[in-house]
Amino acid sequence: MESPNGQVILISGASGGLAKGIAKTLFGAGYKVHVIGRNPTRLGDLATDLGQSNVHVGDLNEAGTAERIVGRVLDTEARLDGLVLGVGPYNAGTLAGTDATRWAELWHGNVQCGVGLFDAARSALRESKGTALFFGAAGLAGLQARKTTAAYTAVKTALLSYVVSLAKEEAEHGVRVNMISPGVVPHGGASEDTNCSNTWKQIPLGRPGKVQDVSEVALWLMGPGAQYITGQNLEVAGGFLL
Ligand SMILES: NC(=O)c1ccc[n+]([C@@H]2O[C@H](COP(=O)([O-])OP(=O)(O)OC[C@H]3O[C@@H](n4cnc5c(N)ncnc54)[C@H](OP(=O)(O)O)[C@@H]3O)[C@@H](O)[C@H]2O)c1
Repeated sequence: MESPNGQVILISGASGGLAKGIAKTLFGAGYKVHVIGRNPTRLGDLATDLGQSNVHVGDLNEAGTAERIVGRVLDTEARLDGLVLGVGPYNAGTLAGTDATRWAELWHGNVQCGVGLFDAARSALRESKGTALFFGAAGLAGLQARKTTAAYTAVKTALLSYVVSLAKEEAEHGVRVNMISPGVVPHGGASEDTNCSNTWKQIPLGRPGKVQDVSEVALWLMGPGAQYITGQNLEVAGGFLL
């Protein structure tokens, strides 16, 4: 991508949190932004900025949603230059306390929603030599045991494995694939765990993250300054879990 103007980005999980912040930042930088969420009310303020036709309501866990929405974006814009895959349900609790239903929700939300949306967009991204940005979580590379976030960390680690392989597979088609791994970023819809002062004390840079910390890095990774970067997991975490 040489310049943001006219380039089209599709962002999932954008009805709240980090993906919503990224949608606003990319829109402010001149990208044409389309967003996906399940809740039309929570997407309302984005519709005001982006235009109602750029707001797509759908559950990416349901078969056919990704293809339907990518098809609508391509019908409108005739191109797709980037994906931001923001869906990623959190889970605290022991492994013994995580039942099969919760494992399935974590797997589908964190892995399958992103895989399905990328698959639906693959040929358009190859055509534009575009880029995709996934979300992990701080500390994945250390493969550390977790007392309370083991299931969440396990599915995010699987996603990281997918991301690096996808980056290698897509590189010959000119498509870049990266991951941002946030640390602790409180926001209106985030888990209560992000507001825990004891956790904040473990962040070497001395404060929790802000949505803007993540959206500024996303803007850079999606844009012309990062054209030679692929297959990377960039922690935006203030040193958390180093
Ligand atoms: N915030 C943090 O501290 C933190 C830390 C580490 C990693 N992360 C990761 O960063 C990413 C973004 O985090 P976040 O805190 O912004 O997450 P979030 O608050 O849970 O936002 C994700 C959005 O995804 C939407 N969504 C959920 N399931 C969906 C589905 N099946 N189809 C379509 N939309 C769906 C939800 O909105 P609706 O319910 O309206 O659809 C929600 O607003 C996630 O992958 C998360 O795991 C976040």
